[in-house]
Amino acid sequence: MPIVEIASLTKRFGATTVLDGVDLDVAEGEVVAIIGRSGSGKSTLLRCINGLESIDGGRITAAGVEVKPSSLREVRRSVGMIFQSFNLFPHLSALENVALPQIVMNKTPKHKARANAARLLDRVRLSERAQAFPSKLSGGQQQRVAIARALALEPRVLLCDEITSALDPEMVGEVLDVVAELAKGGMTMLLVTHEMGFARQAADRVVFMHEGKICEQGAPSQMFDRPATAPLAQFVQSIRHKG
Ligand SMILES: Nc1ncnc2c1ncn2[C@@H]1O[C@H](COP(=O)(O)OP(=O)(O)OP(=O)(O)O)[C@@H](O)[C@H]1O
Ligand SMILES: [Mg+2]
Repeated sequence: MPIVEIASLTKRFGATTVLDGVDLDVAEGEVVAIIGRSGSGKSTLLRCINGLESIDGGRITAAGVEVKPSSLREVRRSVGMIFQSFNLFPHLSALENVALPQIVMNKTPKHKARANAARLLDRVRLSERAQAFPSKLSGGQQQRVAIARALALEPRVLLCDEITSALDPEMVGEVLDVVAELAKGGMTMLLVTHEMGFARQAADRVVFMHEGKICEQGAPSQMFDRPATAPLAQFVQSIRHKG
């Protein structure tokens, strides 16, 4: 049984069809990298999966629950999402940022939420910064707090939308290391990424979006070394030229 099932998904913004009949099943423990040009619909696809966008056609099921307006609370209990911007609460310490969602969403007692938060900050290698406020943390550290915060709700699926794109280059590695560890630990993940080296290493499957459709998908080596469609071949070329 796939943990995420997407069938004939259609999404429009006004007259523009942004997702055009997307079918995608993700198995438990699978890591799927989503690549494609700007505007191809990658973020919209992730946003539909956790119900941040309503859909115009088709059906999405996440952890056995159909994603629809009346099920969003339940969906978001199993589906976590991390964004390019970290969106931490500026007036709370790293520890409190990770503890708060558990207290609010899961009614976890405060002391237990804080203990969980400490353990999760350790897991993203930030124990020594637990009391720091976001403004005193580097971008890479803030993003790792955001990852810990998402993990605090014990998601069964984690959606990551270009979570390293806003970081200075020297901080990309520390965040990708954490993601790679989660992947190895069996977390189901859908990752929109421009880090092709990372996609090649960490993903079980790469999905190439083009003009709102899944144009091609397969194992990383197949996708990057032997693209079968012209749009993917062009995309891979364009990345090579960027270095
Ligand atoms: N809220 C919105 N209202 C109107 N159009 C939107 C909205 N969000 C996205 N779009 C349009 O939908 C299309 C797909 O956008 P999306 O953000 O999913 O692309 P993307 O593949 O994530 O691109 P990028 O790589 O630049 O992040 C684009 O044409 C975009 O302009
Ligand atoms: Mg995007």
